[in-house]
Amino acid sequence: MAKLKWGMIGGGEGSQIGPAHRLGAGLDGLFEFTAGALDHRPEAGRDYGQRLGLSPDRSYGDWREMLEGEKGRDDRVDLVTVATPNATHFEITKAFLENGFHVLCEKPMTMTVEEGEDIVRLSEKTGRICAVNYGYTGYSLVRHMKAMVARGDLGRVRLVVAEFAHGHHADAADMDNPRVRWRYDPAQAGVSAQFADCGIHALHMASFVIGQNAERLSADTVSCIDSRTLEDDAMVNLRFDGGTVGRLWTSSIAIGRQHGLTLQVFGEKGGLRWAQEQPNQLYWMPLGERLQIIERGEANLSPEADRSTRVTIGHAEGMPLAFANIYSDLAEAIRAAKDGRDMDPAADLYPRAEDGLRSMAAVFAVAESGKRNGEWVDARPPLFR
Ligand code: NAI
Repeated sequence: MAKLKWGMIGGGEGSQIGPAHRLGAGLDGLFEFTAGALDHRPEAGRDYGQRLGLSPDRSYGDWREMLEGEKGRDDRVDLVTVATPNATHFEITKAFLENGFHVLCEKPMTMTVEEGEDIVRLSEKTGRICAVNYGYTGYSLVRHMKAMVARGDLGRVRLVVAEFAHGHHADAADMDNPRVRWRYDPAQAGVSAQFADCGIHALHMASFVIGQNAERLSADTVSCIDSRTLEDDAMVNLRFDGGTVGRLWTSSIAIGRQHGLTLQVFGEKGGLRWAQEQPNQLYWMPLGERLQIIERGEANLSPEADRSTRVTIGHAEGMPLAFANIYSDLAEAIRAAKDGRDMDPAADLYPRAEDGLRSMAAVFAVAESGKRNGEWVDARPPLFR
């Protein structure tokens, strides 16, 4: 099967979310990274794109240049990811949809409701996909929660409690830090800071799992740091269209909380609890029975959970990223040798043949010692004695 061609706007060198998109898109070999306008600085974007393997004519300096370059090609990109700062999402997404491209846009999709409506209509009119990266719904056990709710394991869902609370903007001294300051500036962030940044992930996940949408809400929004115009903490009460009550807490001043995305779902027949920082376990308490821990990858889960399980039971979801680090170390070692330079010492960590040999010596030593009732034996290979 031919690979689909994938392009990216934003996600330049040093960006937060660019590497996650490239890893995600590349993982199954379904998409080939073919074109990009990766940085707001044209030269930096062109240079980084080429270092990532794009051909010079498809490593663009600007998204408009990329649109012009791609739209006339027979082998144009099939999907464009928009991973730029929020205020640019609308015009970039709109332009690519209008020109017949499928788009995966970062959240928040737009800055206003009107812009969002334009995008929904445009996607319908053009028949092009406009997906939004609520990426945490890709976790296998989140999909399993949705399947459990849909098949009635919980009965009617009475209450959903969602949180996305971290403490990374808790330092009042950060008011001078440009990477933090813009997020609380209405001119750049829009009408909301923390809810638009993180709260919408929690709300979307709640809706996704219970299969209902928010109908009404009541919010208490506060700026705990006085210098901020927009909220850094919000408590939102919700009523969903299927009758479920919602409670949602989002915060950026919750010192000690890291990513802090959690979901609890309480139905007539049982309750579920999941936290992104421990994504392999789903806590399930059926009414009147004992608390059970459902492990990602175990037998007899839902087809949705099975399809989204990438690593076998017990491994952390991020295990393939550990393998990716080994490959990255090897690439650096091979390139350094070709260029005749010293390799980056921080990459000089891949396990060597010597490690393989020491392991084999240990295997034989264990077998030998076992046979001799635990007698102490030399664990070193003869080469290293
Ligand atoms: P960042 O500031 O770390 O990186 C932004 C990148 O976009 C930079 O490389 C910058 O040079 C580039 N850029 C800016 N304007 C551009 C333009 N006009 N054309 C081409 N490139 C441009 O930002 P970060 O944290 O990576 O966030 C990007 C987007 O992703 C935001 O909308 C944010 O809300 C979203 N995001 C989503 C997450 C998720 O879980 N779905 C997590 C983190 C961020």
